[in-house]
This record gives sequence, C-alpha cells and structure tokens, in this order.
Amino acid sequence: MNYTNILTEQKGHVLYLTINRPKQLNALNKATISELNQALTLADNNKSIGVIILTGAGDKAFVAGADIKEFANFDIENGKKLAAEGQTKLFNVLENLSKPVIAAVNGFALGGGLELAMASHIRIATENAKMGLPEVSLGVIPGYGGTQRLAQLVGRGKAMEMVTTAGMITAEDAKQWGLVNHVTTTENLIPLAEKIAEKILKNSPNAISAAMRSINANYTVGVNGFEVEIEEFGKCFGTSEFIEGTTAFMEKRKANFRD
Ligand code: CAA
Repeated sequence: MNYTNILTEQKGHVLYLTINRPKQLNALNKATISELNQALTLADNNKSIGVIILTGAGDKAFVAGADIKEFANFDIENGKKLAAEGQTKLFNVLENLSKPVIAAVNGFALGGGLELAMASHIRIATENAKMGLPEVSLGVIPGYGGTQRLAQLVGRGKAMEMVTTAGMITAEDAKQWGLVNHVTTTENLIPLAEKIAEKILKNSPNAISAAMRSINANYTVGVNGFEVEIEEFGKCFGTSEFIEGTTAFMEKRKANFRD
C-alpha cells in the first residue's frame, strides 16, 4: 500500500507505523487519519502482525495535535464532524484493535497527538517528551476522546488541571501520573518498544485479544466488564492456542503460538 503521510514497515511479527509529516510536527490532518485507519485495519486483519509500534518521524514530535491549519475556518457543523469522524475512523479503531499498539512518544504529544497515544494500549516516552491537551488555548476542547481517556488514565483531578491550564507535562511527570509506563533515552525508545513487543509475541494471540476486549469492556458504557471477562475466558477453552499453552506447561516446554 502506498501512503503519503505515514510509513509502514513490517519486521517479523512487528509492524512499525510512523506518522511522517515532520515539517508540520506530524500534525494529524484528514488524509493522515484516513491513512492510519487503512494501515491499522490492514494490520488488524493480518495474522502475521502481532504488535504495532506507533511513532512520529523526526526528532521533535510524536504528533503535535490535530492539524490546526486545516480546521481554523470550520463552523459548528464541521467542527462536530471533525471530532466524530476522527473518533470513529481512527481513535476508536485504534483502541479496539485486536492486537496491542505501543505508542513510542518521541517528543511533543499534544492535543490529538496525546489523544492518539492515549487510544494506544501501551505508552512509552523519551526523556524530552512533552505531553498536554492545549486545546482550550485555541478556544476549543479535546475532540478525539481526550476529555474521557485522560481522566481514565490519570484521574479526574489531574485531567481537569491538564485540560484547563492547557499546560504541558514532562515525561517524568507523565510516568508518575500513570500516563506513560516507561521513560527512556531517544536512542533506547524503539529498542524498549521492541523488548515489550518481544514479550507480548511469546503469548497466545487469541488470549491477548480476548484480554484486551475484556479490559476495554470496563470503559464501554452499558457493558459489564466482569460478564465480558467470563464470556471471553470461556471462549479461550475452545481454541487450539489453549491446548498448546496448557500442553506446553505439562510437557515443561515453551508454548509455540506463532510460526
Ligand atoms: N497543526 C498544524 N500545524 C502545526 C501544528 C498543528 N497542531 N503543530 C505544529 N505545526 C506546524 C507549525 O505551524 C510549523 O509550521 P510552519 O513551519 O509551516 O509554520 C511547524 O509545525 C513547526 O512548528 P513550530 O514552528 O510552532 O515549532 P516550535 O518548536 O516553535 O513549537 C509546538 C512547537 C509548541 C509544538 C507548537 O508547534 C505548537 O504549539 N503546536 C500546536 C500544539 C496544539 O495546540 N495542539 C492541539 C491541536 S488542536 C487538537 O488537537 C484538537 C483535537 O483534539 C481534535
């Protein structure tokens, strides 16, 4: 697939997905959102991909937000459409993917950029990364799920402060607040993502997807996460991966879930 705004490369079972508009600090315009939707949908349906590492091109930004130049003259209707389409096409698709996405935050993750990292399943960041939801400084609010996912990750009080001050926090603070799991040097960012990916890839792809669906169920309105867990747990018993996993345990060998 040929893309203009993103780069994709598969190595082994890992897909590297890089947002590639470094001159615009990888700002998310409509075209980039469409391309990410396509790449993620393809990856979701590709059994040979087990983990996706998502990052930004260049040494300055992961993603500096939605493309302000693109929406600067929008009216109410277009504003609503922008948020709705973005959430449906990209942010919800990403969150509900059947395989983990590791956001490797390599610089500014602001507005839609932080929202993209928050819709990912695992976040790691470089020491110089800066994170924030500065939308209210532009006269708008986070529109790609930021008001919801930030509060889920850091708690309502900290989310209120970050959103209303429009301020940026450091990677270290983000780690303390539970917004990112690990902070490392720029050189070690992708190797660290790869180490996490390697651990994930040893496990049952089916069980990973089932566990992710169960965790996400707790954050879905009207859905009982405990009931989803019971259903998903039960379904695992009907899979060849369950047979392989438990047989490998009895035979005192490592399970082999992938070729
Ligand atoms: N949209 C469009 N272009 C952007 C952009 C964005 N979000 N962020 C940066 N750029 C562009 C700049 O306009 C500039 O382009 P030109 O050279 O063509 O002028 C280029 O990227 C480099 O940026 P700066 O010169 O501003 O770089 P800097 O180092 O001085 O500042 C920065 C870096 C602090 C990240 C600053 O660029 C900035 O504040 N960016 C905007 C951050 C922001 O407000 N994000 C939220 C967007 S709204 C949103 O995301 C809504 C939503 O939830 C749906």
